[in-house]
Amino acid sequence: MPLIEKIEQAVDILRRSAVVVVFSGAGMSAESGIPTFRDPGGIWDQFDPEELGTGSGLLHTLTRHPDRIRSFLEATIDIFLSAKPNPGHVALGVMERMGYVRTVITQNVDNLHQEAGNSRVLEMHGNLFRQRCLACGKKQVSEKTSYLLHIRRALERIGRLDLNAVLRELPQCRCGSPMRPDVVMFGEQVQDMPESFLEADSCSAMLVLGTSGVVYPAAALPQKAKQAGAKVIEINPGDSVYSGIADVQIPEKTGRVLPEILKRLQDA
Ligand code: APR
Repeated sequence: MPLIEKIEQAVDILRRSAVVVVFSGAGMSAESGIPTFRDPGGIWDQFDPEELGTGSGLLHTLTRHPDRIRSFLEATIDIFLSAKPNPGHVALGVMERMGYVRTVITQNVDNLHQEAGNSRVLEMHGNLFRQRCLACGKKQVSEKTSYLLHIRRALERIGRLDLNAVLRELPQCRCGSPMRPDVVMFGEQVQDMPESFLEADSCSAMLVLGTSGVVYPAAALPQKAKQAGAKVIEINPGDSVYSGIADVQIPEKTGRVLPEILKRLQDA
């Protein structure tokens, strides 16, 4: 079926849906210059998730191979400093203001949905620009650029990267303890889970955008929505586990297709 027809089918479903919920993954931000995790050249293609994706792995790597942490941080800072919402993010922001999209549930930690204007964003894997106190759990939000530049200056200042040096550079909570980035590592508890499953259970359509669907519990959301009777629209140029349950599967980039969908919704 030609792409245009698939887009029309998706628009038709959205027009007839009272409640639309978005479920997004790393592919949503690929066109903002942030590599995905599992595509060729992706983050887990360049770096070992055992070393950098778990708390114990990170501590082990910091002790044994601090240079790998340094190169990971240096690469990440540059990427996030220049990352801006792409036309796909922007389209979802407008769709919320038009009353189509109720909630965005994301696995991304890049804050780009909020920067694009979405006001109800559930971040199951946390947010890179928010910190959480290691002792009392208090959270705070940092301004993106100053936070990234702080990390870059700290890396320039620190000779050998070790746990003490890192703890010294972390933001300090009012209780006196260091605050770690509020992102969810493998094996840690996800965030906003009850709200996310409630959204999946109560929507009439779910837009599944740029996720391979392999990391649980988040990956269960589209199936949950489908079981609850929702229509599933997937936009993904590559493979994912959802192609089988999608009512409409659009094998294209979100940054290209979402503005096309928006245009047609605005023409209504
Ligand atoms: N538009 C839409 N989809 C895209 C695009 C694009 N421009 N580019 C790539 N994709 C698709 C790929 O085909 C792939 O299916 O995005 C998906 C990215 O998959 P992953 O890299 O596995 O990312 P994600 O599904 O978000 O990973 C889930 O894994 O590593 C953990 O915590 C991390 O939140 C992350 C979780």
